Amino acid sequence: MSINNLVDDFLESLDPTNEDLFSYLANKGWSNGDPIYYSGPYWDQKEISAAIGSLLNAKWLSSGEQVNKFEVEFSRKFEFKSSLMVNSGSSANLVMIAALKEYFEWDDYDEIIVCACGFPTTINPILQNKLKPVFVDIDFDDLNWSLDELEKKITNRTKALFSSPVLGNPYDMDKLFEIINQYKIHYIADNCDSLGSKWKGDYLTKNSVASSCSFYPAHHITTIEGGMVSSNIPEVISLARSFAWWGRACYCVGAQNKLSNGVCGKRFSKWLQNYDREIDHKYVFSVQGYNLKPIDMLGAIGLVQLSKYDHIHRIRRQNKDKLSDIFEKIPGLRVVKEKTNAETSWFGVPIVCDDDDPKSTLKSQLVQFLEENKLQTRNYFAGNILKHPAYKGMEDPNDFPNASKVLDNVFFVGCSPVITEAMIDRIEEIVDNFVINLSN
Ligand SMILES: Cc1ncc(COP(=O)(O)O)c(C=O)c1O
Repeated sequence: MSINNLVDDFLESLDPTNEDLFSYLANKGWSNGDPIYYSGPYWDQKEISAAIGSLLNAKWLSSGEQVNKFEVEFSRKFEFKSSLMVNSGSSANLVMIAALKEYFEWDDYDEIIVCACGFPTTINPILQNKLKPVFVDIDFDDLNWSLDELEKKITNRTKALFSSPVLGNPYDMDKLFEIINQYKIHYIADNCDSLGSKWKGDYLTKNSVASSCSFYPAHHITTIEGGMVSSNIPEVISLARSFAWWGRACYCVGAQNKLSNGVCGKRFSKWLQNYDREIDHKYVFSVQGYNLKPIDMLGAIGLVQLSKYDHIHRIRRQNKDKLSDIFEKIPGLRVVKEKTNAETSWFGVPIVCDDDDPKSTLKSQLVQFLEENKLQTRNYFAGNILKHPAYKGMEDPNDFPNASKVLDNVFFVGCSPVITEAMIDRIEEIVDNFVINLSN
């Protein structure tokens, strides 16, 4: 019996209605009293079939036709001209900044403005590419960077604003677009938490020179690990591909690699200025690259997940609304809302405890209570990133008081579709008990 037959039998035995089969995944097969994961793979037998199918049918197994199909479909869905899949959102940021620096010919230590409160691998690629991050404090109302503060940080060395909306929730994008037009600087989107979020009906990434996205299991769609760089400037994606593929100049992707003369039709040409014979373009290195390629299986999983995106977006929004109502029963607590022009694809539910009370212990009490009752909570990432050892000496953390307040007053819970109605009922019970304890 061939391995294909064995696997066909196995796949046929996967009954999609049998919850127990997938009980190894976050929150599957949940019953009252079990932990409630804040997110996780929202999977069924389709992802398993696609993953195994790609292992059986690919000739090379590493990044190939499935990854390329996913890149094309992802671009179509989220309205980009071109995309490149890599092995994580952090890698996406790394090659995106490298490609933009090369494309726009930025000098070393040109300035990129970022939020002082967020995820480390939005900032690290700026440093790793020998650029200078310039930090901006947040506005405590929506927890996003303050655009007034941002404007004050613009200098004649500012090349771009690297935006990352908090838990997917857009700030006033009209004002951001005014700023980039007025000062002639670029807008780069770290879209890892905001895949599919919109402003006035357009994806947030529409006016960006490039954007990144993560497929880690906590995110909107997952390929286990994985990330994407997308742009409407195809040359930026070709450069990002070179950085992700060892620095290679050749830009053949997927099935194009089967063309013996390459998609350019001149694979074997005199590519090197200092060597007057023909050389294979696949072995011409135009930038100092890395190897950040995904395996082909991740592309196959991504294609299935992409087909579920609209459903996932809807459930995340519904769960966010239900959980907001539940948590807002707690005195002194508010949940951040979306702005009128926004359609947020929520990554999580941002919870602010006792905004104006620096001595408040509500966050620590509540987080402890939720965790004891097996509801996963998460810090809003790093809080003030400048307080962390890796960024010591860069700028004074005390200049960013609102970002510091995040550590004391803000946390989030999940709203992913792995959280079902029954779990939401349980969360309501836990929160009600917390309120009762408070009043006793
Ligand atoms: C805003 C932001 N940027 C980048 C990343 C990094 O993505 P990955 O974990 O896929 O490397 C994350 C991860 O959660 C993130 O939230």
